[in-house]
Amino acid sequence: MMRISEPMGNHTVLIVNGPNLNLLGTRQPEVYGRETLADIESLCRAHGAALGLSVDFVQSNHEGVLIDHIHGARGRCAGLIVNAGAYTHTSIALLDALLSVDLPVVEVHLSNIHRRDEFRHHSFIAKAARGMICGFGGHGYRLALDALVNIIGET
Ligand code: DQA
Repeated sequence: MMRISEPMGNHTVLIVNGPNLNLLGTRQPEVYGRETLADIESLCRAHGAALGLSVDFVQSNHEGVLIDHIHGARGRCAGLIVNAGAYTHTSIALLDALLSVDLPVVEVHLSNIHRRDEFRHHSFIAKAARGMICGFGGHGYRLALDALVNIIGET
């Protein structure tokens, strides 16, 4: 497993969570499971530390706040993991923000969006992402960290 060594400069990863993800655990558990966002945050912090990454973890229900978080990563973070929730399927503004910061992006979804409603099959933000992980619940964030540490290690 790749691990970032300490003197390599910037190894902060920003994990951005969009609308309604604050309700994980109680929100449609048959779709999203029983894990809470706090559980996923702890998982990310622990796995990030094992990989030599420090993790910033944010959630907002507001598109503009998500955009501000993404802008704030520019020059400060080594990469982004993004679960934009329903904004995935609607937001060109989020796509533009992700394209603006010039950082590697991994897109994550807890559910397999391709097994669900047709309108969830298209992601506007996918064009800004190196890859997408979907369908593995909270474990997908762990996989995204693994993917990102490899990308960061290459650069
Ligand atoms: C989601 C999938 C989206 O379609 C949905 O709107 C969400 C969560 C997921 O993680 O599976 O809010 O991004």
